[in-house]
Amino acid sequence: MKLCASPHGALSGRASVPGDKSISHRALLLAALAVGESRIAGLLEGEDVMATASALGRLGVELEREEEGRWRVAGVGVGGLAEPDAVLDLGNAGTGARLLLGLLAAHPFTSIVTGDASLRRRPMGRVAAPLRAMGATILARSGDRLPLAIRGRGDPLPLEWRSEVASAQVKSAVLLAGLHAAGRTSLREPLASRDHTERMLRAMGAEITEEDEPDGGRRVTITGQPELAPQRFTVPGDPSSAAFPVVAATLAEGSRVLLEGVGVNPLRTGLYRTLREMGARIGEQRRREQGGEPVADLLVEGSALEAVEVPATRAPSMIDEYPILAVAAARARGVTVMRGLSELRVKESDRFEAVCGGLRACGVRCWSEGDDLFVEGGDPPRGGALVEARLDHRIAMSFLVLGGVARAPVTVEGAETIATSFPGFVELMNRLGAQIEEAA
Ligand code: S3P
Repeated sequence: MKLCASPHGALSGRASVPGDKSISHRALLLAALAVGESRIAGLLEGEDVMATASALGRLGVELEREEEGRWRVAGVGVGGLAEPDAVLDLGNAGTGARLLLGLLAAHPFTSIVTGDASLRRRPMGRVAAPLRAMGATILARSGDRLPLAIRGRGDPLPLEWRSEVASAQVKSAVLLAGLHAAGRTSLREPLASRDHTERMLRAMGAEITEEDEPDGGRRVTITGQPELAPQRFTVPGDPSSAAFPVVAATLAEGSRVLLEGVGVNPLRTGLYRTLREMGARIGEQRRREQGGEPVADLLVEGSALEAVEVPATRAPSMIDEYPILAVAAARARGVTVMRGLSELRVKESDRFEAVCGGLRACGVRCWSEGDDLFVEGGDPPRGGALVEARLDHRIAMSFLVLGGVARAPVTVEGAETIATSFPGFVELMNRLGAQIEEAA
């Protein structure tokens, strides 16, 4: 599907973005491990999360959609999954695949896991290595890529693991396997990544400790084999989805947009901090707690931006937001520098390449030095380009936002990928005043 975004004026109105993708995957996976029935409200019904739901169904978990965003999950208890009788296809969902591998590593049966062309290119060695150390047998394609076969063990070994990357997916996979081990499993990451798994498991009764280390690293330790209590989960709005209307409103002079119920967990809000440093006006109203996560309404007003330097230490808290930050940088006066982006190369696409290529096609100067990305911004970019989404929802949405603030329309090919994380993106943006439509 091709979508075309034409230049628009000020955006205005109020809207709610769909449920948080990270938390939605975790709500389903953790509810499946409880003893008893959990209820989830505000679940993101995008393709990624639905792939996790159907994989859990194949593993013997009963899930029922009661109404939009409201799901009931009958948990099977820690260690209670059943052997699947077909391949588990996680589609585009890296979180679904990696977290599920953590669970499968702790079950004594064989599963075959695969995904779409994007997911089959992404590295799984980062989760396969600790899971093998816990006793799982994993046979994968070269480079530890999907499809792979995994045979877990019912009594995985407790583990002490140092992860080279700050990755919540790696951390969560190890915690989920460790949940089944007799004893304590701990993982050390070089910088703190999002902590939704820890918050949710703790609320369910698991014993989890977190320690900050002097060099900025964080150690998380879980005590295995608890009984997990069923929950009523309420999923907050996704700050990674809100990022698109937030940047669109910031860049359109005279805009005033209220986004309701957005998650503001500090390990997710690096983009908002960076935009404020650039001069964006993003206010927080009605700050509250929802399902163990901080949530607020965001009031965004159009404003002129200045370039900034984003330090590498901020990467984990805004990892999915660099493509849309690069679009904001294209309209900020000066050269914005984003440091330490090696992880961008292994997302749904090589986002380093996708961002640079797309910006250049739209007439924006963009270059890289090692793992650092540079974008020179200023007046509205030329636009007038065709950008390929590369099976990457965030690339698709970022360039549609750029089209709205460029001098000529931008067309995105492969825009159907937006449905993985943000069903209703086009309707929401157009309701606020954007002009996105299907192109011939
Ligand atoms: C996610 C973690 C991040 C992020 C992804 C969602 C999660 O990936 O990019 O979109 O839900 O744990 P990494 O763990 O690979 O950094």
